[in-house]
Amino acid sequence: MANQPWWRNAVIYQVYVRSFADGNGDGAGDLIGLLDHLDYIASLGVDGVWLNPCYPSPQMDHGYDVSDYFDIEPAYGDLQIFDQLIARANKLGLRILMDVVPNHCSDQHAWFTEAVAAGRGSKQRERFWFRDGQGADGELPPNNWKAVFGGGAWSRITEPDGTPGQWYLHTFTPWQPDINWLNEDVVDYFDRMLRFWFDRGVDGFRVDAVTVVGKHPDLPDAPSIAGAVAETDAWAFNPYTVFWPSAHDAWRHWREVTNQYERDHPGRELVTVSEAYTPGKPDLLLRYVEPDQFHQSFTFDLLLSPWNALSFHKAAARSYQALHDAGATLTWALNNHDAHRVVTRYGRADAHLMSSWTGSNLVNSAAPVDLELGQRRARAAALLILGLPGAAYLYMGEELGLPEVLDIPDASRQDPIFARTEGREKGRDGCRVPMPWTTHSASLNGFSTSPSAKAWMPQPDGWGAFSVEVQDYDCNSMLALYRQALSFRVDMVEQGEVIEFVGDGTDGLFSFTRGSYAVVVNTSAEDVEIPREIMVGRKLILGSLPEAFSQVDESSLIAANSAVWLG
Ligand code: GLC
Repeated sequence: MANQPWWRNAVIYQVYVRSFADGNGDGAGDLIGLLDHLDYIASLGVDGVWLNPCYPSPQMDHGYDVSDYFDIEPAYGDLQIFDQLIARANKLGLRILMDVVPNHCSDQHAWFTEAVAAGRGSKQRERFWFRDGQGADGELPPNNWKAVFGGGAWSRITEPDGTPGQWYLHTFTPWQPDINWLNEDVVDYFDRMLRFWFDRGVDGFRVDAVTVVGKHPDLPDAPSIAGAVAETDAWAFNPYTVFWPSAHDAWRHWREVTNQYERDHPGRELVTVSEAYTPGKPDLLLRYVEPDQFHQSFTFDLLLSPWNALSFHKAAARSYQALHDAGATLTWALNNHDAHRVVTRYGRADAHLMSSWTGSNLVNSAAPVDLELGQRRARAAALLILGLPGAAYLYMGEELGLPEVLDIPDASRQDPIFARTEGREKGRDGCRVPMPWTTHSASLNGFSTSPSAKAWMPQPDGWGAFSVEVQDYDCNSMLALYRQALSFRVDMVEQGEVIEFVGDGTDGLFSFTRGSYAVVVNTSAEDVEIPREIMVGRKLILGSLPEAFSQVDESSLIAANSAVWLG
């Protein structure tokens, strides 16, 4: 719509660089591979690309352990290739967003190695959260905090003189020491980092793990948790870091930095999108998109929702009411590099049950999966999120209907969650399997330029059947549906951002009108009549199933597990 910042209703395509396309033949994705496939991304009809971290990193958490925020991971390319990527993206009309990780860096970052070397009480240690341990010899961690990826949130270092030393806080893994945002050096460093990438032409940042950046300065013990909680969810109950308000000073400061950059560079329109999981709590989400903080914050409620119109209604309505009324933009996603892929989630035998709403992206049902049903539902869900007002983030491979790979051999697993929980939780490798581009098994289904490359994460048999090559010319493929929806979305966006929900989902339909358009999703196992108030004066524009046209026109019925756009 006119006079709106470009990002407000943008569709952004998320690229997990390691898994997208391998341009140098080493079996892992890289920037050359991305550059070679940028035309494909543009052909989808999206507005931009978000790159998962591609800075130098020991890859203990695949880039979320950054050892240098001012360069490119050598295995992925260099700054020159990055500049070429920006130039090509500009030509294609694509914006580029990077990923900034403020909560922690790598334990190989110069700051951390210097802090260890500089010793107790040094200025260098103040950039992190070093504390003496408890117990007679400091042999116990300073408090009881739990790490997100399993185990405790503290590790002990060896002091330069060889004695057992202080402990440092790490909300994720020991390879990711938490940074102290109360320290001025930290604030200055990240200011420079943001400007460095803006100067190179980056249009914005996805901001990692914002909810844990604040910490109670005294680091008190977290209250004990009532009831059974999954190992990777225990951290979420720690009120002394999760949503601890001091972090908002940093976000307000970053907004000043981006606003100032825009003032200094007329024509540039920057965006920051925060990763804050706030399921069921739109009031908390709202805090991140106040006008002086992030431009966007993911509304994860749909990603976490079961396949159920009631919960879709709850998830969408409460987020919409809170954010839209406050003038903030909504930011939807069904998939990302941390969650089981939607085809598999919706194919689970318990996918329709409200009780399968765990509120967690790391904890998954183990119910059997019907992939055909999952595909059918995922098609409908695509029309759901692309029909909603606000921005939508798509995760590479979602447009191909890739399933989660559930049977990765343990020996091939790389997500630190697997090792840190001693295999009790499998982790996130299954949504990071290299993309299938063709059916040529020798080149890893077109993923690699080398016929003899070994994929960093194995592709399962039959992966080529999901490939771009196979789907490109099939007008009923998932890829074709995404392309169609993205092209019709242009008109959908013209309808404005006001929607009216119709019903509350109890009849199995999640429906809303948006100007002269309407979106209806049938999550039930029966065909259902579309309510008259929606049908009158409208005709089918797009259906998630090819047969929708005859069905809706003849009988106003919407098929089970499908969605339609009417207008
Ligand atoms: C975020 C990222 C995830 C990463 C974690 C630690 O949740 O999305 O992939 O492992 O932060 O940086």
